[in-house]
Amino acid sequence: MKTLITQDPHEAASFVKNGGVVAFPTETVYGLGANVFDEEAIRKVFQAKGRPSDNPLIAHVATFEQIGILAAEITPSAKALIDRFFPGPLTVVLERTPAVPLIATAGLDTVGIRMPRNAIARSLIKAAGTPLVAPSANLSGRPSPTTWEAVLEDLDGRIDCILKGEPTEIGLESTVVDCTGPDPILLRQGAVTYEELREIVPSIQMADELAISEVRSPGLKHRHYSPNARVLIIDPTDLAQPERHSAFIGISSPTATFELTKVCGDLNEYAHTLFEFFRECDRKGIETIYCERVPTEGIGAAIMDRLERATRG
Ligand code: TXA
Ligand code: MG
Repeated sequence: MKTLITQDPHEAASFVKNGGVVAFPTETVYGLGANVFDEEAIRKVFQAKGRPSDNPLIAHVATFEQIGILAAEITPSAKALIDRFFPGPLTVVLERTPAVPLIATAGLDTVGIRMPRNAIARSLIKAAGTPLVAPSANLSGRPSPTTWEAVLEDLDGRIDCILKGEPTEIGLESTVVDCTGPDPILLRQGAVTYEELREIVPSIQMADELAISEVRSPGLKHRHYSPNARVLIIDPTDLAQPERHSAFIGISSPTATFELTKVCGDLNEYAHTLFEFFRECDRKGIETIYCERVPTEGIGAAIMDRLERATRG
């Protein structure tokens, strides 16, 4: 298959309308989109990524009317979160309507719904005239792509089209909140932080603490976000003698020297840079990546979540 690269949302949408799969930018990471109502196209998404079929996909919408087609009931907590954070880097999980095919939700009775705020993503969804299921546009197990070149690196020849945009603004995947029950549950940390969510829905629970994250969000049990290199979480002051062929990323200047060093100005830059840094390390044959531990507050919680998953890769 030849993968077409374009900057025209209408050209990309024509592939979606014909049952194809198209990578596109969002404010979080690049997604791999297909028509949410086209089972055959959704099958191609799983195939292109090598994604296990028990890992549900998020449906991306451009309008509030489209939410009504996918969700059987908008619970009060979902309504409050949608009013405050849509469009943006938040996914709400709700009971699905029969219109949503089971292959999209990996057999679950629920569906994750997100309205991206990225203008190119919105143009694509509008031009396609349908919500799009879209997992991150990486090969399963690899770090999510934050540039169109990273999508090409993983999926060239495996997908119909890449809709080209800028490097993504946030760099980590959306916050996922299960809103089906009376108390919402935070399933995945992201740029909409726990503190911000709690202001809107004070009864929100953490899935980690309930020890149910893998039950409620099957995707979380799979391998994630891993570069080939070994990832170690460190406090830079503890690091006397790094391993050979190693790299460092963090917000403090380390005293040791590395083959590759990235000192970020703040936590937002750390989040924005992390996945592309992992990929850069793999391209350079780095064997050990030292990542600075940060406090689990604000976006720091999402950074630490991704780092911990990467150490388990
Ligand atoms: O920022 C993002 O969310 C990106 C961009 C492209 O929008 N997408 C993304 O998709 O990260 P993916 O497939 O890589 O991650 C989806 C996550 C998985 O952890 C999955 O288990 C969870 O969302 N999820 C999706 N539908 C769900 C559902 N019905 N119930 C519980 N968790 C769900
Ligand atoms: Mg993913």
